[in-house]
Amino acid sequence: METSETSNFVAHLDDEEQILETFRHIFEESGFKVDSFTDPSDAFNAIQSSPEKYSLIVSDFNMAPMNGIEFFKRLKAHNYFNIKHRAILSGEVGTRYFTQKCQQNFDITSDEIVLFSKINIKEIISFLKKISYQYPLGNEGKKEFYRLEKQALMKGFRPEEEFFLEDCLFKEGQSVLDAGCGSGIICRMLALINAKKNVHFHGIEVSKETAFLAQKRIEGIEVFSNIILTQANLENVPYPDESFDAIICRYVYEHMANPQKVTDEFFRILRLGGKLMVIDSNGLLINIRSTHYPQLGELQDKLAAKGIPNFDFFINDNLPSYLEKAGFNVGPDSMSFREIPIIFNDDESKQIEKNRLKEVFENAKSILAPVFGGENELDNYVNLVNMVLDDSRTEFKYDKRFWKIIKP
Ligand SMILES: C[S@@+](CC[C@H](N)C(=O)[O-])C[C@H]1O[C@@H](n2cnc3c(N)ncnc32)[C@H](O)[C@@H]1O
Repeated sequence: METSETSNFVAHLDDEEQILETFRHIFEESGFKVDSFTDPSDAFNAIQSSPEKYSLIVSDFNMAPMNGIEFFKRLKAHNYFNIKHRAILSGEVGTRYFTQKCQQNFDITSDEIVLFSKINIKEIISFLKKISYQYPLGNEGKKEFYRLEKQALMKGFRPEEEFFLEDCLFKEGQSVLDAGCGSGIICRMLALINAKKNVHFHGIEVSKETAFLAQKRIEGIEVFSNIILTQANLENVPYPDESFDAIICRYVYEHMANPQKVTDEFFRILRLGGKLMVIDSNGLLINIRSTHYPQLGELQDKLAAKGIPNFDFFINDNLPSYLEKAGFNVGPDSMSFREIPIIFNDDESKQIEKNRLKEVFENAKSILAPVFGGENELDNYVNLVNMVLDDSRTEFKYDKRFWKIIKP
């Protein structure tokens, strides 16, 4: 199994402490952890001693004794230590002198160095969201592995409530991809259902630890011997064009950093006439509302409007556009969906969902807290959600859909 895990640290160099502090919040809200430096040599040494820690290096331009361009030239001499992304944040962006200096030293058009004006915060945040990957609603590793296994046993989240038998049966010799397989539960279900046939199941999972545990779960079990798991990012699927007869992507789209890139990959690796099946929900978290608690409605609106990194509250609304851009025909001949709303209207299922949400909130604290303005504010929000869930008058649902799309 490949093991190229993405780290989410940024090394930020600026000679002004205040700028470092301001941008620390922006980086952190976008899912990065930050090492700040005022001295270029300190920054260089930290990067050189643990380059695998960083996925982004950001530098100011105008600094003494070494400007941003000199700093990046020094890193370039070491092939940037293979750190994926580099950016200059400067008040000089747009000036002729600055542009010329950059062009003389770097290939700006290929994003060797990305240039941002310090005041264009919106553009910076959108860049950070694009390049960072942080799974927002759960930890990696054991905790997440068992959370996913447990979730698949809960009302509203059981695969058997979602899949019809016809979705699960494959023909002799076919290849099927479970994209973003997590603990591998869907791969295993499909392998069991198709046990008498020679069907090849593949799972791809970006988290190294989750992929490792998913692999451990199937090792040495005969009926799972036709499952191959790979740790990789769906943005660059390590399979040739037209490798698969079917792709299943369950509860992954809502977490993707670059859904368009992934959908383009799905189109590439599907055979002609192959089928993509997507299962996802609109409104997770934000649909918990009650007319008796208008203050919660306000907080939910705030969460929906602000969003959280790598989480799409409205994936079912946005999916057709990704598919169409990738080359799929989103007309009724090629694409269809069935609604499988998740409804909690009895005490027992509400209690189970409340416990599930508690776990989600706990795991996502560092990401949700900034949305509400701090940990105390987040606690108030969570308490209110719990109060609404405890109230017997509350009914709520998530709009889950099972999409099927054929590659034309
Ligand atoms: C909610 S879990 C769902 C797992 C599994 N499909 C299931 O139904 O239980 C989402 C999974 O997608 C993975 N994931 C998110 N983005 C990914 C990407 N770009 N490439 C590969 N895996 C990704 C996450 O690491 C996580 O394990």
